[in-house]
Amino acid sequence: MHRTDVCLAPAQGLTLSELGTVQECQKHCPECFRSSLFFDPENAFGRCKQRPAPQGPACRRFIAEEAAASGAKCVLTHSPTWIIDPIDGTCNFVHRFPTVAVSIGFAVRQELEFGVIYHCTEERLYTGRRGRGAFCNGQRLRVSGETDLSKALVLTEIGPKRDPATLKLFLSNMERLLHAKAHGVRVIGSSTLALCHLASGAADAYYQFGLHCWDLAAATVIIREAGGIVIDTSGGPLDLMACRVVAASTREMAMLIAQALQTINYGRDDEK
Ligand code: IPD
Repeated sequence: MHRTDVCLAPAQGLTLSELGTVQECQKHCPECFRSSLFFDPENAFGRCKQRPAPQGPACRRFIAEEAAASGAKCVLTHSPTWIIDPIDGTCNFVHRFPTVAVSIGFAVRQELEFGVIYHCTEERLYTGRRGRGAFCNGQRLRVSGETDLSKALVLTEIGPKRDPATLKLFLSNMERLLHAKAHGVRVIGSSTLALCHLASGAADAYYQFGLHCWDLAAATVIIREAGGIVIDTSGGPLDLMACRVVAASTREMAMLIAQALQTINYGRDDEK
């Protein structure tokens, strides 16, 4: 089965017309769509020699990790936009460490509308749609509601930079949370799945500097719909392009963590 079928067909809370968007794209030129969506989504239609690019409902924008890696700009416009990470947890994937996901978010007018994250090795499908709830394999998700840091399991990811100054800040942030008596701190190697653990109540908070909009888009909808909070590390509203986040089961917990952190500057996705 094709990956888009695996991810989208059984998704909870998606309407037939949204599934239709994907099917319409596939109908337009199945070979072109299939070969390019996960490897060069910015050019998913541009490469098609057989037919003109679609207009109307099939005309969507894409932001995706592999496209950005080959130089495509990550600009979130008001157009309907798919925000995709075809493999989140690449390092895990390379080592056969079984914590790997596909993440697909969808935004309209810069507002996140729905998200789908597929835990590939455990066959868990997380979905969320704005105003319609969040689910894992059909079971409703709820965050833990924890407010006390001393009872909280906090997740984070290391981020891509390994220079001494960045590593010092990363370790110092972890040390600050441990001094603040967080019950535990974990790094699992996939930001999207760590965020899904928060949505399902298996963890209470998440923070990271150096993640990207494709790591965050789908998970943000899922966490919000599970009752959680997703904000900027400054304590202000989330900025999807700012490469930093604090997410938590409650606002109190999110603010406690934001206040403990020192900023690690990774620049912005839309300025790279
Ligand atoms: C990365 C992973 C990693 C996190 C990075 C992400 P990728 O995604 O989630 O754990 O530290 O910030 O970008 O590169 O495996 O898709």
